[in-house]
Parts: sequence; C-alpha cells; structure tokens
Amino acid sequence: MPQPNFDPVEVAALQPEAIEAEVTTALKAIAAAATLDELKTARLAHAGDRSPLALANREIGALPPAARKAAGQRVGAARGEVAAALTARQTELEAERDARVLLDESVDVTLPTDRNPVGARHPLTTLQERIGDIFIAMGYSVAEGPEVEAAWLNFDALNTPGDHPSRELTDTFWVESVDSGLVMRTQTSPVQIRVMLEQQPPIYVICPGKTFRTDELDATHTPVFHQVEGLVVDEGITMAHLKGTLDHMAEQLFGPGMRTRFRPHYFPFTEPSGEMDILCFVCRGRSVGNPDEPCRTCSNEGWIEWGGCGMVNPRVLAACGIDPERYSGFAFGMGIERSLMFRSGVADMRDIVEGDVRFTAAFGMES
Ligand code: DAH
Repeated sequence: MPQPNFDPVEVAALQPEAIEAEVTTALKAIAAAATLDELKTARLAHAGDRSPLALANREIGALPPAARKAAGQRVGAARGEVAAALTARQTELEAERDARVLLDESVDVTLPTDRNPVGARHPLTTLQERIGDIFIAMGYSVAEGPEVEAAWLNFDALNTPGDHPSRELTDTFWVESVDSGLVMRTQTSPVQIRVMLEQQPPIYVICPGKTFRTDELDATHTPVFHQVEGLVVDEGITMAHLKGTLDHMAEQLFGPGMRTRFRPHYFPFTEPSGEMDILCFVCRGRSVGNPDEPCRTCSNEGWIEWGGCGMVNPRVLAACGIDPERYSGFAFGMGIERSLMFRSGVADMRDIVEGDVRFTAAFGMES
C-alpha cells in the first residue's frame, strides 16, 4: 500500500547510488561475458525477473505518488542502459561466433584428395588398340580415313554398282544435299582404296574406325559403330594367307584353339568373297549334334558370323593403279562392337553405346 509519508531513500533498492552501482556491476559483467552462454548468465543476473533492477522496479509501486515518477525514470533509464549493453554485446558475440564457424568449417579446395572417382577407358577403345597391336606385331601399319567420305570411295571404287541398294537413303547417311557426293562412311573399306591409291605394294595395313548406317539402336544394332579392316597386297598372296591371318587374329583375341571358317558370299570388292565365322566362343562347337549340351549362343551351329573377307577383286586393284597380273591381295572387315560382345559376354549393344561409367568401369583399366 502506498504510504503518503514514505521516504524513498528508505527503499534501499531505489537509491540513486544503489541503482548506479547495479548498472556499473551489470555493465562490467556484460563486458566480461566472453561467450554467448556467459552473456546469457549475465542477462539472467542483471535483467532477469529476479535481477536487482527488476526488484527495484517492483518497489516503485510502494512509493508515495509524488516520488514515483523520478524513481520510475531512474530505474527505467538504468534498465534501458543494461538492455542496450546486452544487445550490443550479443551482436558482438554472435559476429565472433559466426566468424569462428566460418573459419572452423572452411574447406581448403586446393588440398589434394584421393576421392576422385577414377574412370576407365572404354572397352571398345582398348579392344580396337588390342587388334591394332596384334597386326602391328606382324609388321602391319595402321591406316586411317575420314568418317565423312566421298561416296565414290565408299561405293564406286569398291566396285559397288550405282544401283546397289546399300546406297539408298534407307541404309546410308548422305551428307546434305544428296548430290554432295559425300556420305558418312558405311564401312571402313574405303580406307583400302585410299591406301592403294597412295601406296604401291607391298601393302600390309589394318584400318580401325567409326562407321555409320541408318539402323535404329537396339540390342544388336547401333547407327554408329566400329569396324576394323585389314588389307594385304603383295606378290603371291593367296587365300591360305587370309585364312592363317584370321585364325591367328581369332586365337589372339579369343584364346588358343579359336578358329575361323569361310562361307561363300558376295562382296563387290573381293573375288572370291566369303563370310567368315568364328568357332562359338561359348560351346566351341561342342553343341553340334549333341543334345546333351545345347548352346543358345550359336543355336547349336557351333559357329558365329564374325565378318566378311575375300581376295581383293582384280578390278579394284587395277582401278587403284596396281598391276593385278603381278600382285594379289586379301581383305577382311569385321565389327568391333560384335567382337566385344563375343569376347566379353556383353548381351546388349545399348550397354556399349550409352556411356554409363558403371559399364566401362567393369572393364577396369584393361589395356
Ligand atoms: N565392308 C564389309 C561390310 O561392311 C565387310 C568386308 C567384307 C570388308 C569383305 C572387307 C571384305 O574388306 O573383303 O560388310
């Protein structure tokens, strides 16, 4: 109850000196708080409900009305000063903390790391190089030609008639316009012509590279694929040399005992021509006439088609300025994707094409 003759000086907590002393203590404690936790403690002690200034504030009501205003102003100013100091220190400490967090959690992006996922070379590339190596070891050299090729080299010079269906837009990508005379090469055989036009026998070359046909991508076809072409022109070259070379290549690629066989076929640039089969890499011929050991891969044929080959057509030799009376030659060509499917058991062409690193990595860094 307010008492009219109450002497404010008697309310110790409201004495100006007491308030001043409390403010000084509070400001000291606030300045001394080195962490946000310590500041929280200081806030509780000097601005909390049970702090001296809060208690003093409560005393105001007990003063005589005349004394309340001055006391109220004194306590209010004191509380304001403490609150401002708390806010300022809070801001300071938060800024310090943020700076520390930034420093502690900073990442040195220049540090060396062993966590980079290591890719692997595409198995098509390594297989292509392996085939190259087999032939380089026999003294061949590697020849290359452009992927955008003159239709004349891709077809005409290879003795392909002007009305041959393979020239159609449905099989061949023509470079616009159709009378540009340029195609995306449909085979690596034009490289044979380029070599023979530039070089006199003896010729021993292998030509790996990209080829293109208007096929839809599915489990066994892709519009962009790879072939490897072989060409030998020398004196006295016979089909026996061709057979021996292909058998050697088969053994080197697929392991000892792998053989090839010829089936009669027609290619305009070879005469005679053959399709070349390889012993089934799964059953190795054991499924033939043997119901106990059926083979899904070769349908119990024992053989799988691998490529085309033949003796270079004398007309092609002559067209390239090579004397067919003196020289003869053989040539062959096969798909590298197909060879990879045989060699590594890849069941779906799309896995080879899609470039998923999980597929490539499965072949490791095989060189
Ligand atoms: N160029 C043929 C093709 O793409 C493959 C081929 C057959 C190449 C016979 C040859 C060969 O060198 O003699 O189907």
